[in-house]
Amino acid sequence: MGKRFYIVTFGCQMNVNDSDWLSRALLARDWREASGEDDADLVVLNTCSVREKPEQKVHSALGRLGTLFRDRPEAFAAVGGCVAQQLGPELLRRYPFVRLVFGTDGIAETPNALEQVAREPHLQLQLLDFLKAYPEREDAWDGPAAEHEDSPGPAQCFVNIMQGCDNFCAYCIVPYTRGRQKSRHPEAVLRECRRQIARGVRDITLLGQNVNSYGQDPGGAGMGFAELLHAVAALPGLERLRFTTSHPKDIAPEVVRAFGELPNLCPHLHLPLQSGSDAVLRRMGRKYDTARYLGIVRDLQEARPDIVLGTDIIVGFPGETDEDFEQTLEMMRTVRFESSFSFKYSDRPGVAAVNMKPKVGSDVAGQRLARLQELQNEITSEALKSRVGALETVLFDGPSKVQSPGAVHWRGRDAAGRVVNVPFASSQIPSDLAGKMMPVRIMEAKKHSLIGEKAGEPW
Ligand code: SAH
Ligand code: SF4
Ligand code: F3S
Repeated sequence: MGKRFYIVTFGCQMNVNDSDWLSRALLARDWREASGEDDADLVVLNTCSVREKPEQKVHSALGRLGTLFRDRPEAFAAVGGCVAQQLGPELLRRYPFVRLVFGTDGIAETPNALEQVAREPHLQLQLLDFLKAYPEREDAWDGPAAEHEDSPGPAQCFVNIMQGCDNFCAYCIVPYTRGRQKSRHPEAVLRECRRQIARGVRDITLLGQNVNSYGQDPGGAGMGFAELLHAVAALPGLERLRFTTSHPKDIAPEVVRAFGELPNLCPHLHLPLQSGSDAVLRRMGRKYDTARYLGIVRDLQEARPDIVLGTDIIVGFPGETDEDFEQTLEMMRTVRFESSFSFKYSDRPGVAAVNMKPKVGSDVAGQRLARLQELQNEITSEALKSRVGALETVLFDGPSKVQSPGAVHWRGRDAAGRVVNVPFASSQIPSDLAGKMMPVRIMEAKKHSLIGEKAGEPW
């Protein structure tokens, strides 16, 4: 009987994708998925260190595991991802039941290392070296990934195209935890995409910390991001293609044009703005100003008039004044992002902004965050309302979380990524719609999602 593992994932989609791969690689080695930490022989924490809070969550999770494992000396933990990269050896010292720490460049070796520590009870290992090239991982396709909260739908997947980041934005720890940018060879990207499509995937998201600079290091074999997009979009059977994350300073005109040229490139772009104040953007080291950003938005809208934009905003960056913040609100009103992730600035060890002053008090930052989120909610709600009456194609993930008596609700996404729930009367309950696409008429807008009605046959 194989040992049982349980993976807890914090942080970004890259971590979600890494955890999915690790879970498939363990399943392929005869490990089994545990139902929770309680009955696991191995708990893997895949961690995030982008702000202080997710880092604290790792320490509280380790405290919890320490208590849980007290009576089960054979059980152990492994810590991967950005906190592991940052604190590796300290974690091994502080928590003796942590038997492996691994960074993103070490993940390819992690399944074998886990087998080794499972065999040798007192061994502690670390896989923390940064590598020069993108470390290809074994194909671990055949086992389905263990289920988790952020599991992509059955017809969706992520494909890594690069690792690391060279931008060193003044607030950001990622270049220290993920190392230098390393593009993955285009043939490896295309091979993985083809295999995923052959398994039934219809919707691929290409992943990297800054996909727009794909190929600007030796790993891309001379191919830039626009060319890679064209090559992936041309794969037969791929209905939807997206990518994340984009840095505005690196988005090439060819990538903007691709939104008008490639019908399966989804009309959605997450384009982190961070601040609407040119002075703050300068101190952040973002290397664009608001005029340049608005120029990109205009070009995108020209290439693809129905494009939906999302963004990331940091409030309370050191030195941010009320006026700077008002400029951020103004940019939100001008661009009308349909969604945004917004955060209070959080000091991270070793980044340039640690030494920038004056720091903005937590109360002021909190008030700014609340105002920003209120404005976002208004804009989102108006944008969703304007969809009522539209005909969309929905790709279904599975049954909706919320059901109601007398109906069965299915949840999916339209091409721009909006969540659409479709209720079916009990008399016409569909057989499995997961992974199917269907024309849907939008009937109603909720706060963060849409409700629609079947408007054609699923395929
Ligand atoms: N590579 C991506 C994002 C990486 S981190 C990009 O460049 O867009 C995700 C988001 O976390 C960032 O866009 C930023 O808004 C936020 N973030 C990063 N460091 C932060 C910090 N120190 N405090 C608060 N938010 C931060
Ligand atoms: Fe961090 Fe900037 Fe790199 Fe994004 S581009 S990961 S915000 S350093
Ligand atoms: Fe977090 Fe690392 Fe991703 S810091 S956001 S897990 S790159």
